[in-house]
Amino acid sequence: MDEDDSYVAFAIRIRIFRVNFNIVLSVTLPVKLLLLRQGLYIRRMMLNDYGGKVPSDLTAEERQELENIRRRKQELLADIQRLKDEIAEVANEIENLGSTEERKNMQRNKQVAMGRKKFNMDPKKGIQFLIENDLLKNTCEDIAQFLYKGEGLNKTAIGDYLGERDEFNIQVLHAFVELHEFTDLNLVQALRQFLWSFRLPGEAQKIDRMMEAFAQRYCQCNHGVFQSTDTCYVLSFAIIMLNTSLHNPNVKDKPTVERFIAMNRGINDGGDLPEELLRNLYESIKNEPFKIPEDDGNDLTHTFFNPDREGWLLKLGGRVKTWKRRWFILTDNCLYYFEYTTDKEPRGIIPLENLSIREVEDSKKPNCFELYIPDNKDQVIKACKTEADGRVVEGNHTVYRISAPTPEEKEDWIKCIKAAISRDPFYEMLAARKKKVSSTKRH
Ligand SMILES: *[C@@H]1O[C@H](CO)[C@@H](O)[C@H](O)[C@H]1NC(C)=O
Ligand SMILES: *[C@@H]1O[C@H](CO)[C@@H](O)[C@H](O)[C@H]1NC(C)=O
Ligand SMILES: *[C@@H]1O[C@H](CO)[C@@H](O)[C@H](O)[C@H]1NC(C)=O
Ligand SMILES: *[C@@H]1O[C@H](CO)[C@@H](O)[C@H](O)[C@H]1NC(C)=O
Repeated sequence: MDEDDSYVAFAIRIRIFRVNFNIVLSVTLPVKLLLLRQGLYIRRMMLNDYGGKVPSDLTAEERQELENIRRRKQELLADIQRLKDEIAEVANEIENLGSTEERKNMQRNKQVAMGRKKFNMDPKKGIQFLIENDLLKNTCEDIAQFLYKGEGLNKTAIGDYLGERDEFNIQVLHAFVELHEFTDLNLVQALRQFLWSFRLPGEAQKIDRMMEAFAQRYCQCNHGVFQSTDTCYVLSFAIIMLNTSLHNPNVKDKPTVERFIAMNRGINDGGDLPEELLRNLYESIKNEPFKIPEDDGNDLTHTFFNPDREGWLLKLGGRVKTWKRRWFILTDNCLYYFEYTTDKEPRGIIPLENLSIREVEDSKKPNCFELYIPDNKDQVIKACKTEADGRVVEGNHTVYRISAPTPEEKEDWIKCIKAAISRDPFYEMLAARKKKVSSTKRH
């Protein structure tokens, strides 16, 4: 079991638990490749076409101007919101001028309003204020209820609070998710409801925790739709990406329903999901895009695949010792390499868990570094690559030797990779998960 989990811990965030090693290799990795391919491709198209979000036929001054206008608009919208809030408050007060009871009530409402304001500026402090003033009970259920109602709360702030990795916040997250009723909703309907209730934070680990909680709740409300929570989790991301593919005008290559179905082969613990189900989900997204609160144009696909670092490097082959130029992307504790920057499909994935990095001298190439397994010279590093015919196979490297174009880039890559390795986002989460899994009944 440990072996399974340690392999799974490698995953971007699509981790399939309690599956044997063969399924991980034959199912999980291709699915990941597909999702990754889509996500990166979409991101790339958006970057290529618009260099960010600004149309490319503008001069530098026009861009600046556009930036200013956008900023100004944001400020104005915020001002308007503030004014509206104040007007509402005053109207409320006028209405409530009256008996002492009403005055007390008014006092209380005022404090709640202040708590909300504080919450929107700093969620933790806001909650603390409400608790200290007896306006909220200090239990995860009550806090979850307060966030779920969300009256006057900024959804970004709700997302920040729910995303904290503090044990208590995680309990609130779970209580919050429990308040969502997903029974008899299809996955798209449930996602619509969930993603509208707060703004998902940008950080991979937070997204992972929240989507995991979502998937658990969905499966709890809808027994028998999916073989496992992980299937639900994987499909949720596939749907979020489908949303971007279908509705972002910068993505020209719109997937058909057949492609969507093909993309999701084998994700139900090795089996296929009913075509009818996938068809319905596809149609639902096609007819109406997902909305996210406080949409700033950076949709989830973008967030999901925002790399720590990317650039050209030379990589020494495992079996055949030749140097190949590859486009490397470091994200979520994995190194991906591509033949061209615009490729949809990575040539390889190197999960960084348990690896170390060191500088090395090479007689042929300058600025070299190496990924290796500490204390284990001959063990092959767990990684995968795509063969020319599209098959996904295990890699055959005991070390990965890489050469950077300049000493500065070498330093920077080493720094970033070290940071990625030491963050080791999945191991701890996995350990916690395992504990939980072994203490709760499977359904
Ligand atoms: C909510 O908070 C975020 C981040 O602080 C801010 O960018 C956004 O404008 C706020 N939304 C509203 C409606 O005030
Ligand atoms: C879905 O796509 C639309 C259009 O690109 C975008 O505005 C929205 O943020 C996307 N939703 C999610 C959850 O990514
Ligand atoms: C990674 O390290 C952990 C902790 O030492 C270990 O349990 C696990 O088996 C290792 N994974 C691999 C693939 O060596
Ligand atoms: C990996 O390389 C070794 C020797 O370099 C070779 O014997 C072995 O067959 C290779 N394995 C694969 C799966 O290619």
